[in-house]
Amino acid sequence: MNKSIIKTITSDSERTGNVLEVKHLTVEFKKNKQPFYAVNDVSFDVKEGEILGLAGESGCGKSTLSRSILGIQKKGVSGEIKHFYKRPQMVFQDPAGSLNPSKTIEFILKEPITVKGNFSGEEKDRRVREMLKMVDLSEELLTRYPHELSGGQRQRICIAAALMQEPRFLIADEPVSALDVTVQSQILDLLKRLHKELNLSILFISHDLRVIFNLCDRVMIMKSGKIVEMGDKEEIYFSPKQEYTKELMDAGRTKYMVSESKSEKNIK
Ligand SMILES: Nc1ncnc2c1ncn2[C@@H]1O[C@H](COP(=O)(O)OP(=O)(O)OP(=O)(O)O)[C@@H](O)[C@H]1O
Ligand SMILES: [Mg+2]
Repeated sequence: MNKSIIKTITSDSERTGNVLEVKHLTVEFKKNKQPFYAVNDVSFDVKEGEILGLAGESGCGKSTLSRSILGIQKKGVSGEIKHFYKRPQMVFQDPAGSLNPSKTIEFILKEPITVKGNFSGEEKDRRVREMLKMVDLSEELLTRYPHELSGGQRQRICIAAALMQEPRFLIADEPVSALDVTVQSQILDLLKRLHKELNLSILFISHDLRVIFNLCDRVMIMKSGKIVEMGDKEEIYFSPKQEYTKELMDAGRTKYMVSESKSEKNIK
């Protein structure tokens, strides 16, 4: 990335009520030597304390957008990105691939605060135990390696590792897509709980609108690198303006999920 496009503003006097502000973000790749815009002039904010959903079909640019927001994608990125808290973190789609197979769970959890931060050994141990409790896992897992865990346990470890540095903003890029349905709903419940307990703002990415409607406050719909629709969850569900949004909703048979989550009252 062109580092200068990411600014981190942490003084209280400059707070705007958002954890993230993105303006005119564009990511240019080359396809057959021609410019190709994986993200094309995208602007949006993530408000303090909200879960914002980002939905769109495979290849529309969701991961490229999230990688640029965190500065992981560097090349071809232009626009303006403002973070209002330090250490924003990301949870990736594939829990197996994002954990180092040769390291124990204890090492993986301690690593983020070993690299950054000035913690004593005792503090690190305490924080690891707290985090495991937070994601409902037993301390017995500490001596194990990632391949010795179930998919759901691995994703809980990824979430715990992302939270070790106490971020206020988390990007979850398809965090449940690789999991079976029962485990998916457990991880979604965990994210809802962490969102509340840790006052965590989340940009939650999925190609599945059912999952987005179940979890999020507001929704953005992305198509071919552009945000084509954005609004409150209920607004998008009851009066989608774009044909593409309707197609995504039809594809996911979202009706059941929304009526179910509305009657639940406790959708956040
Ligand atoms: N490093 C890269 N170089 C060239 N093209 C890329 C690169 N990374 C992504 N792309 C292209 O950019 C487009 C967007 O990809 P991206 O991975 O962001 O989509 P996505 O919405 O996350 O898809 P999925 O739902 O499958 O994860 C795709 O056409 C992809 O092939
Ligand atoms: Mg992706």
